[in-house]
Amino acid sequence: MPYYRSVGEIPRKRHTQFRKPDGTLYAEELMGVEGFSSDSALLYHEYLPTAIVQSEAYEAPSWSRTANHPLKPRHFRTHKLDTGGGDAITGRQHLLANNDCRLSYAAADAPSPLYRNAIGDECIYVESGTARFESVFGAFDIDRGDYVVIPTSTTYRIIPTSAEPLRTFVTEATGHIGPPKRYLTAKGQFAEHAPYCERDLRGPAEPMLEEGSDIEVLVQHRGPVNGTAWTKFTYAHHPFDVVGWDGCLYPYAFNVADFEPITGRVHQPPPVHQTFEGPNFVICSFVPRKVDYHPLSIPVPYNHANVDSDEVLFYCGGNYEARKGSGIGQGSISLHPSGFTHGPQPGSPEAAIGVEFFDELAVMVDTFRPLELCEPALACEDTGYAWTWAGRTLS
Ligand SMILES: [Fe+2]
Repeated sequence: MPYYRSVGEIPRKRHTQFRKPDGTLYAEELMGVEGFSSDSALLYHEYLPTAIVQSEAYEAPSWSRTANHPLKPRHFRTHKLDTGGGDAITGRQHLLANNDCRLSYAAADAPSPLYRNAIGDECIYVESGTARFESVFGAFDIDRGDYVVIPTSTTYRIIPTSAEPLRTFVTEATGHIGPPKRYLTAKGQFAEHAPYCERDLRGPAEPMLEEGSDIEVLVQHRGPVNGTAWTKFTYAHHPFDVVGWDGCLYPYAFNVADFEPITGRVHQPPPVHQTFEGPNFVICSFVPRKVDYHPLSIPVPYNHANVDSDEVLFYCGGNYEARKGSGIGQGSISLHPSGFTHGPQPGSPEAAIGVEFFDELAVMVDTFRPLELCEPALACEDTGYAWTWAGRTLS
């Protein structure tokens, strides 16, 4: 739900004749969510967006899921995954999944194919590296710390532009991702108490036009294996043929450095970190911040039982004070499932007293339904993590 945007050329009235210089009509496309009852965009194509010439089954990498049973808190070291030579879409290695969302990690050094996710929105968090995001709506650059939110069925590709790999932590939703509703007014503006606002969002600024014929686009869509299947469409013309569009539905980037932390005299509850919400999950940002300033405050979190959620934390910068002594480092992901009370590592509450600033950066995904473990997660698991609160040695 970003705000209204208009890019390129559009006719003054919607659903009226809009002609090319040669006198023929542009092809109008309404892209809308929730049965055209919610946000939408109106796009004007050079060619028919319906003109496919081939449809083939595509064998995307897929992983089985294993229940987190017997129940354990988990620690995965994503930087130990074999991620060489891939792209930011087909190179995603799924770590944790349920029917509401799929969490994956990729370290990409190659341009991705053209791709569309018809199952739901995607939220790509950039851990490091830079890239060009290109789509039917236009293009923009993405950088370390960016969340890139991509509406369902947006055709796009990602082209790494840095010497180092583009490292991304991706949330694929079964549904739509947007800012928390409590931060929006009844009419959709960010409210004054929101930790970010319209000025912090970056979207396409001009059309992206590319010529070509018989262009392949990979489509992830609803299907029989864990709810997904992949098809390769071949389009008669290049899908990047939109001369103009307007609406409130388009891809955008939000950099985590623009998230203004909400702090207090005593420890603030996790919802203050919320950045986005999706169907049966939330995405939160733990950013560098001044910490609790009551004279008797304990800056690290209390032990907590988030009884309705599985909690995933992706550690992507700084030092994470509450996890000191756990083996967690840059690129780590922890899973603290429902049914397990978790909290700071032994000794860290005392050590944190008097600290005024936490230089930490982490992305959290809390899911309201249990997450299952995919093979790549098990391949990079630190199996001794569960026993670290008890002071046992890491395996
Ligand atoms: Fe937690």
